[in-house]
Amino acid sequence: MPTQQPAKRIAAPDIAARKGGEPIVSLTAYHAHTARILDPYVDFLLVGDSLGMVMHGFESTVPVPLDLMIMHGAAVVRGSARALVIVDMPFGSYEESPAAAFRNAARVMKQTGCGAVKLEGGARMGETIHYLTQRGIPVMAHIGLTPQSVHVMGGFKTQGRERAEWEAIEQDAKAVAQAGAFSVVLEGMAELLAARITKTCPIPTIGIGASAECDGQILVLEDMLGLSPRVPKFVKEFAQIGAAIEIAVRSYADDVRTRRFPASEHTYAMKGDKAPATKKTKMTGS
Ligand code: KIV
Repeated sequence: MPTQQPAKRIAAPDIAARKGGEPIVSLTAYHAHTARILDPYVDFLLVGDSLGMVMHGFESTVPVPLDLMIMHGAAVVRGSARALVIVDMPFGSYEESPAAAFRNAARVMKQTGCGAVKLEGGARMGETIHYLTQRGIPVMAHIGLTPQSVHVMGGFKTQGRERAEWEAIEQDAKAVAQAGAFSVVLEGMAELLAARITKTCPIPTIGIGASAECDGQILVLEDMLGLSPRVPKFVKEFAQIGAAIEIAVRSYADDVRTRRFPASEHTYAMKGDKAPATKKTKMTGS
């Protein structure tokens, strides 16, 4: 009988309880291998609909279908053991009515095994957030720059840089907290406004381009790894994986073309035969 208990997953109320405490750490994840690597270091993994742009080459998140979110969500749950997994509700899957949102969010929870969903919108989504949370679905809200509204906003624009914009965004934060969201993403927001919301809002704020004033931070994994072709000002690249991949692929192509790869150590001999006497080759590609 196994003696070791599986790691207990972080749940939405654990994140809510972190308001004002040690900063909450999170990243996006879209597949099982990266989820496994990130899992010990983050509090939650977001299967963001940004996967439409990052992994599938869409111009925005608008075309992302629900089935795609479910497929990636299930992979991230399988690849992780400890972090809360939150799956984004894609454009068109929740705005029409609270009942439609419940139907789709319930499908996401059942078919992925995730612990919460995220949806974009403030006061206008209050009724839906209330409906979902009353029926067993923890909801993370997302206000400020909401990429699914790119066509209404006329681009990906930082929010709250004019004081005249503050009132509406502060009302959004208040509304989603009152409706029962356990946390709220503040995206692309002036620092002063993010600080004001974080101070007054009873649920943790998770910033992306919203300053260190927030209760936690999230970044798109590929952006912080240096894998994305263009990144916004708020991204810090913690590695240059894109450049490392290019070097490795150039070496591989050279080695294949010069027959340095595969070498004897990568080759199967007949049973009982000695491996061919080629010397072990380090793949330098030089
Ligand atoms: O889709 C996404 O990755 C997100 C984060 C940027 C918060 O919503």
